[in-house]
Amino acid sequence: MAVLQLEDLAKRYDKKVWGVRRMDLEVKDKEFIVFLGPSGCGKTTCMRMIAGLEETTRGCITLDGLNITDLAPRDRNISMVFQNYAIWPHMTVFENIAFSLKLKGMAKDEIRKNVVDVAEMVKIEQLLDRFPGQMSGGQQQRVALARALAVKPKLFLMDEPLSNLDAKLRVVMRTELKAIHQKTQATSIFVTHDQSEAMSMADRIVIMRDGEIIQVGTPEDVYFRSADMFVAGFIGTPPTNFFKVKLKKERNQGALEHPDFKCPLQSDEFAMISKYGRKELVLGIRPEDFQLTKTGKGILNAKVLVVEPQGSHQVLAVEIDNKIVKTIISSDHKLSPGDPVSFDLDYRHLHFFDTESEKRIS
Ligand SMILES: Nc1ncnc2c1ncn2[C@@H]1O[C@H](COP(=O)(O)OP(=O)(O)OP(=O)(O)O)[C@@H](O)[C@H]1O
Ligand SMILES: [Mg+2]
Repeated sequence: MAVLQLEDLAKRYDKKVWGVRRMDLEVKDKEFIVFLGPSGCGKTTCMRMIAGLEETTRGCITLDGLNITDLAPRDRNISMVFQNYAIWPHMTVFENIAFSLKLKGMAKDEIRKNVVDVAEMVKIEQLLDRFPGQMSGGQQQRVALARALAVKPKLFLMDEPLSNLDAKLRVVMRTELKAIHQKTQATSIFVTHDQSEAMSMADRIVIMRDGEIIQVGTPEDVYFRSADMFVAGFIGTPPTNFFKVKLKKERNQGALEHPDFKCPLQSDEFAMISKYGRKELVLGIRPEDFQLTKTGKGILNAKVLVVEPQGSHQVLAVEIDNKIVKTIISSDHKLSPGDPVSFDLDYRHLHFFDTESEKRIS
């Protein structure tokens, strides 16, 4: 069992800068949580407070019902892996992994068995006699993971552990880390500012901004029901396109009017927006929800600016109302800059936001 609770957790550095303004969160047993947010939003600060490497300014951290807020790091039963690996250069891989087990007073035979077990899990069993300087970045990161896993922590914290690896290796390590998690079932928190990493790994994503949690949810939640324009713009590549629109009523039907197009609303959405009461709002459309249709027949007409082939699909940039709008279309369409295009929309997936608060209207 390992349930982590953060209650009103905050950190202010030197009575000036807020690292974390407020965090309330419950991480469930065996869950793989990802903290996602732009640089400086407080991800590392929060992890360091959980690990006990940073004092809290306010709030409470509970692990399995035990208040650990003021416990020393070694008494918390938590392992942390850092971005720069932080493995000891003067020790072999074996010694690196065995170190904390020795401190625990574990017998020699048992240490060897544990080290070999985790080394196999992260696929470095051939490297146990090497020194860190004799290994690639990916291998060093595996050593750091093995060292953290060897102590069988209640909670496993990883702060951007893949960010020093090249793009291809990152994707491989993502899958392996998920597989390791499925095997160990250790409750885990993983930090990244890469949204596709977060989407592909997380049971639930915690989206942070300026030291606060903006949304907590499954990858589907944050993608299809983004809490605000920040989340809708942060999750997904290319990000959501936003349009300022006005609600128009025509008999019992409603439509959203933009200077360049008119988007008819389905009755449920019309009812919801009518209830919301304001006439002006922001319409969010994800790139894949534009459907290319016969020129002139769609609700939205534009000219192609740039075509970006991606193999499995292509990203088509068009200009609407002096703004670049990115759409995803199938690779079958042969289009060039300047070509006229016409789109329909997937009405099931439209997003609506308040113009001032930028919060989702729902
Ligand atoms: N030791 C420190 N002293 C003062 N301010 C700090 C300290 N560490 C972090 N900060 C500030 O706290 C805020 C949060 O920093 P933090 O390192 O937690 O962000 P992060 O989300 O991990 O960013 P990144 O993605 O760049 O790693 C930032 O404004 C940062 O400048
Ligand atoms: Mg950080």
